[in-house]
Amino acid sequence: MSPENNYRVGIITSSDSCAAGEREDISGKVIKEIVISNGCRVESHSILPDEQELIEQELERLCDTVKVDLILTTGGTGFSPRDCTPEATLAVAHRIAPGIAEAIRQHSMTITKRAMLSRAVSAIRGKTLIVNLPGSPKAVRESLEYIIDELGHGLDILTGRDGSCADHKDTEKLKI
Ligand code: MTE
Repeated sequence: MSPENNYRVGIITSSDSCAAGEREDISGKVIKEIVISNGCRVESHSILPDEQELIEQELERLCDTVKVDLILTTGGTGFSPRDCTPEATLAVAHRIAPGIAEAIRQHSMTITKRAMLSRAVSAIRGKTLIVNLPGSPKAVRESLEYIIDELGHGLDILTGRDGSCADHKDTEKLKI
């Protein structure tokens, strides 16, 4: 990720217990620490209960009004009956970007086979990329540190800072 691009990031923690103040939102803090150390600016961080409508509204606000480049969600991707972050993400998505969620699961499977239990998705709304991360601070760090470098290239193309991969300078260097 190129720190000079100063990507604008929104964070959503989906957790009934964090929203009720019963548990500290450590995962949200881990996301904040990682994105800031990669040169991003955190525009918003909300802690919401696992309510699909509320999560959808916040995703829409961040995409359409705040117009962040990237939204990172944590939590609500498992099998609990209340988990609904992937459904909220797909409900507001204009386009899917499945490779990011696939890469997270593939890498996470080398750490714990329970990674197969994450239903996380990744998608695009307008010029904003939305990536679901799992709920635990450990899983957040393992997932986000693995993808963050490549997110920069995707965000550059999505936001028009860079052209398409086909005319990208790296391709020329490789003489493909
Ligand atoms: N991914 C990584 N990298 N590390 C983990 O420890 N935990 C898994 C999975 N993904 C895990 C992981 C577990 S135990 C679950 S249940 C799912 O993420 C869903 O988590 P969530 O419901 O907290 O979002």
